[in-house]
Amino acid sequence: MSLITLSGLTPTSSGIHLGNYFGAVRQWIDLQDAGGAHYFIASYHALTTVRDPAKLSSNIRAVAMDYLALGLDPERAVIYRQEDVPEVCELSWILSTLTPMGLLERCHAYKDKVSQGISADHGLFAYPVLMAADILIVRSHRVPVGQDQKQHVEVTRDIAGKFNQTYGEVFPVPEPLILEGNAAKVPGIDGQKMSKSYGNDLCIFESEKKLRKRVMSIVTDSQGVDEPKEPEGNTIFELYKLVATDEKVAAMADKLRSSGIGYGYGHAKQELFEAMLEYFADARSRRLQLEENPDEVEQILRSGADRIRPVVEKTMDAVRSAIGVIPSHS
Ligand code: ADP
Ligand code: TRP
Repeated sequence: MSLITLSGLTPTSSGIHLGNYFGAVRQWIDLQDAGGAHYFIASYHALTTVRDPAKLSSNIRAVAMDYLALGLDPERAVIYRQEDVPEVCELSWILSTLTPMGLLERCHAYKDKVSQGISADHGLFAYPVLMAADILIVRSHRVPVGQDQKQHVEVTRDIAGKFNQTYGEVFPVPEPLILEGNAAKVPGIDGQKMSKSYGNDLCIFESEKKLRKRVMSIVTDSQGVDEPKEPEGNTIFELYKLVATDEKVAAMADKLRSSGIGYGYGHAKQELFEAMLEYFADARSRRLQLEENPDEVEQILRSGADRIRPVVEKTMDAVRSAIGVIPSHS
């Protein structure tokens, strides 16, 4: 039996950014070849921040198109929406009865909000339990995510262990798969971790005009065109390393380090912008085609729902029987 892989993104904005791609989605694409891949859109998680229904449904469609344009392939992976497996909410409740409060109190998203003096709702507090349900409902063995989601996968491991201990082996204890190196924490245009919630992201499918403007607004130090500049740790250079060839990266490093050649950050930004467009050229044109064919996207999601249903039903039968409830329809 091949290993089951599961991951997903929250549709809190209308576009996948460089951090999402290099930190998570690129791994998902590679893992499709091994079989057993499941990628979903975490619509219910988005409710902790998106409360405009029109925006939520358009974000869900946008993430679906982003997935497909970037190379998630319905022939090699099951691609679906969380709302097509409402049983995750049932499983989330069952798991929550085994989840210590202290475990959730230590989770970043909740802790950060409370430390800023903002009152958190139950959804944000319980977010990691719903995530555990997403992972466990397909009995996933591995979860490819960016560094910032590692803690959530560890919570899932604890919960799976607790369930198995209490009710007998139902779930594998999943491993997080996290990339090392510069993809683990991709910087945003202000040098902090790129995140849609910090407003510092570079969205892959942004129009050329807007994308160029965003790239040009990357924050740098004030070294002038003729002064030597250290590439390592510089946001433009760190991003360039992700999208340019080794040769081009070496050439930019040389130019930045040289003095008196009139090569400034503006030139480096222009090269980054061009390299981004080139790297994502195929994906960008596929994305445009998908926009023209919304029915095709809907069809793919529906067939993903059809494929995931028997998996979910099998897990839920095992869970219900383990805990001692038998619904009359079964
Ligand atoms: P955001 O921080 O923009 O809200 P999400 O939390 O939706 O992004 O993250 C989706 C996936 O992308 C997760 O697996 C996350 O770890 C990864 N990811 C997000 N931002 C980055 C980043 N800057 N560098 C590396 N991975 C990232
Ligand atoms: N919390 C994840 C994020 O913000 C999205 C997510 C929800 C997820 N459920 C998941 C990721 C299950 C991996 C597995 O990116």
